[in-house]
Amino acid sequence: MPSSSSNSTGSILIIGASRGLGHAMAEEFFKKGWSVVGTVRASPSRTKLHDLADGSDDRVTIERLDINEPAQLASLRQRLDGRVFDMLFVNAGTINVPTETIAEVTTEEFVRVMVTNALSPMRTVEGLQDLVSPTGLIGVMSSGQGSVSNNTTGMREVYRGSKAALNTLMRSYAARHADEARALVLMAPGWVKTDLGGPDGRLTIEESIPNLVNVLLDQRGKPGLEYLDYLGRTVPW
Ligand SMILES: NC(=O)c1ccc[n+]([C@@H]2O[C@H](COP(=O)([O-])OP(=O)(O)OC[C@H]3O[C@@H](n4cnc5c(N)ncnc54)[C@H](OP(=O)(O)O)[C@@H]3O)[C@@H](O)[C@H]2O)c1
Repeated sequence: MPSSSSNSTGSILIIGASRGLGHAMAEEFFKKGWSVVGTVRASPSRTKLHDLADGSDDRVTIERLDINEPAQLASLRQRLDGRVFDMLFVNAGTINVPTETIAEVTTEEFVRVMVTNALSPMRTVEGLQDLVSPTGLIGVMSSGQGSVSNNTTGMREVYRGSKAALNTLMRSYAARHADEARALVLMAPGWVKTDLGGPDGRLTIEESIPNLVNVLLDQRGKPGLEYLDYLGRTVPW
């Protein structure tokens, strides 16, 4: 089990915090005394993040971003100009029908999953990295399914491919930033019961996210890229 790390507080920008794991991360960091800026996609409807923000005394605030819209990313960057975060965490992601093979998927669906899970998270990291303290942490939500080595069972072929692509792109980012002090983390949260994970997930959100947050807290001050699960164990690439 990851230790609960130091009690020091900080600030985090979480991309994709409307529901599921991203919302749970926002709640957990809030409970630990952190200031949280969470993003939701542009839509008039309220989300669980709005409920958290309402009772937060302005310690949880909401911004809008669809990670697939570069113009929205640029305006978010502008709105946050001058802010410095201890952590940036890109959580947003999507899935297609898990049983759909690469032989069956349409080109449009393949592109949708790849863009949302690989290109757009990296664009978000590139676009918002300057808002992170030079000794801060940049994290991205990967998946155990992104491990090439562990893929001996197949299934979720397109999703696996998108998270493996994300991992490789993040490794290239890390190589390009090898002389920097920031901690970089690809997280595998476990198979969790959410809209995306489905009802058969092995873990509840409560079993995954408090541990995952402690893993992130423990990674602070450790430069370089790690691919870790929610208990802090290294996932084979
Ligand atoms: N649950 C699992 O078992 C599991 C396992 C491994 C990895 N993961 C990863 O964990 C992350 C969160 O998954 P989850 O289980 O919490 O799924 P979820 O409940 O379906 O939530 C997905 C989140 O991503 C946001 N999102 C999707 N597309 C977006 C876009 N284009 N722009 C901005 N936000 C977008 C959603 O916003 P809206 O509310 O606007 O749709 C929502 O906040 C994903 O990256 C997923 O791949 C999950």
